[in-house]
Amino acid sequence: MDSKKFYVSYNSVHKLVKNLSKQLIETGFDPDVIVAIGSGGFIPARIMKTFINRPIYAVGISYYGLDNKHKDHPTKIQWIDEVQSQLIGKKVLLIDEVDDTRATLAYCVGELLKFKPEEIAVLVLHNKQKDKDVEFPAEIKRYFAGLDLGNVWIKYPWDAEDIEKHTENEKIMLEQETKERT
Ligand code: G4P
Ligand code: MG
Repeated sequence: MDSKKFYVSYNSVHKLVKNLSKQLIETGFDPDVIVAIGSGGFIPARIMKTFINRPIYAVGISYYGLDNKHKDHPTKIQWIDEVQSQLIGKKVLLIDEVDDTRATLAYCVGELLKFKPEEIAVLVLHNKQKDKDVEFPAEIKRYFAGLDLGNVWIKYPWDAEDIEKHTENEKIMLEQETKERT
């Protein structure tokens, strides 16, 4: 796998989400609720709330075992039993940080569809343009990605131990990219 690292600062996350909120409005999608897939989707979902002010339901889905290897299928580690009945007839905005293999996202969509929402739209900060392990069911009519990337490893700010260094790394990376383009 290409080991190229793509650094993303908190400011960049915020700007991506703001941009995505504008796309939602432009396409006329006005969700009733946000469902955030944890843990990577939590911070993007909270920032989205600043722009669209909708309640957030949190779910946790794991596709990795303790040995960091993919399990056979994604499993729920936290679910919204108390509120799932409230999804009936609602427009749901499902948020995660990255669309990689799509396995977690598609599994989550499948589980949410059981509760008969009017519509589910999927929104991610980053989409990796690659062959996906699974496709979304036909019910997914709207898909929003803040940025399309190749097969890089994205470094999110919430994983950083030294946030100053992380932010600086993004700056260096972006300057390098500009240099390469000119
Ligand atoms: P997908 O449906 O979103 O494509 O998810 P997939 O199952 O392929 O990915 C599983 C895990 O791999 C997710 O974490 C996702 O965040 C992580 N991941 C994939 N690509 C990258 C990347 O480039 N950078 C980083 N930092 N993570 C990546 P998870 O198991 O849901 O854990 P969590 O970190 O969200 O808690
Ligand atoms: Mg995730």
